[in-house]
Amino acid sequence: PNKVSVQTLAEKLGKTPAEIIKSLMMRGIMASINQEVDFDTASQVAEEYGILLEEETQETLEEKMFEEEPDSPEDLVERPPVVVVMGHVDHGKTSLLDAIRKSNVTAKEAGGITQHIGASTVEVNGKKITFLDTPGHEAFTAMRMRGAQVTDIAILVVAADDGVMPQTIEAINHAKAANVQIIVAINKIDKPGANPDRVKQELADYGLLAEEWGGDTICVPVSAVTKTNLDTLLEMVLLVAEMAELKANPNKRARGTIIEAQLDKGRGPVATVLVQSGTLKVGDPIVAGSTHGRIRAMMDDKGRRVKKAGPSTPVEILGLSEVPSAGDRFYVAESDKQARHYAEILAERNREQSLRATPNKVSLDDLFSQ
Ligand code: GTP
Ligand code: MG
Repeated sequence: PNKVSVQTLAEKLGKTPAEIIKSLMMRGIMASINQEVDFDTASQVAEEYGILLEEETQETLEEKMFEEEPDSPEDLVERPPVVVVMGHVDHGKTSLLDAIRKSNVTAKEAGGITQHIGASTVEVNGKKITFLDTPGHEAFTAMRMRGAQVTDIAILVVAADDGVMPQTIEAINHAKAANVQIIVAINKIDKPGANPDRVKQELADYGLLAEEWGGDTICVPVSAVTKTNLDTLLEMVLLVAEMAELKANPNKRARGTIIEAQLDKGRGPVATVLVQSGTLKVGDPIVAGSTHGRIRAMMDDKGRRVKKAGPSTPVEILGLSEVPSAGDRFYVAESDKQARHYAEILAERNREQSLRATPNKVSLDDLFSQ
């Protein structure tokens, strides 16, 4: 729960700190001007003055700053599906993506373990699909959750020789919580111990009943190594995407989500972002979390320089003042000045919140025993 200082509360309510201190005292709370009270107490005091106090989250603040106008139907165009690949560690998520992209990311990973969300786009039968890879290691729960939140479809990879494991279950829960449609890829069917029926049986226990067994979960047996059935898997992705009628308006200032970000020695803060609506362009002033900047350069997933990126496109951007947090939303502002101003307001809010998070252990007893 949030806390607020007496000083801030007084400012917010347009009262003097002394008045607030008095109101608190009437409730048996002894607080000085710099002390903090919890949100419930603050809202009770506010109510006394006939004011409704609401918690301002980063999200509600951003929504106020970057109010989104409703899109007119003629501006909405089809956009590629954003597909997250999830599943237990070593079940073959990156290998499957490598086989689909005809790339070789697995070989470059330290110890063969994915540590981040890689974003890439592939073209299948003239249609684009944006893929996000996630790590299966148990330490990366937040990344799987984030992955599920920005996507339309989840490919749940389950190794046919290993079956449903803890991170398989976690991935199912994240996808369900985010209301994302799950397509199951039963991988490693080339292995001698592969038992796809056992996997289906186990999945049924978690509410995913295969279509061929009368349910509505699409299960595709595949092998990333022998490249078996990858076409079928991609066709299923396109089919589900088509039914979802995914649309976005590319004709407006872009907004989206920071997928990952880090500080690069030579290039400064580098962020991989997913554009979710509008079109992001080089030169755009943007705000991401409490950072801001003007986009100096953009690279697509193949490292090529691009000047703009439309809905469902992942791009790497340069030009932010600091490294934003993965999961932060980003918005294009009207001007550099506005971007800086809004970022400052958001930074201010974060500071206040971190202040509020510091435990205030001073009890009445403490005060009197001094
Ligand atoms: P994390 O990112 O660490 O969670 O793992 P991952 O799910 O991305 O698995 P990865 O693609 O790194 O593959 C793990 C191991 O399984 C590697 O040794 C792959 O070669 C092997 N593998 C992946 N797919 C297949 C497959 O279809 N058949 C066989 N036989 N081996 C596979
Ligand atoms: Mg991986």
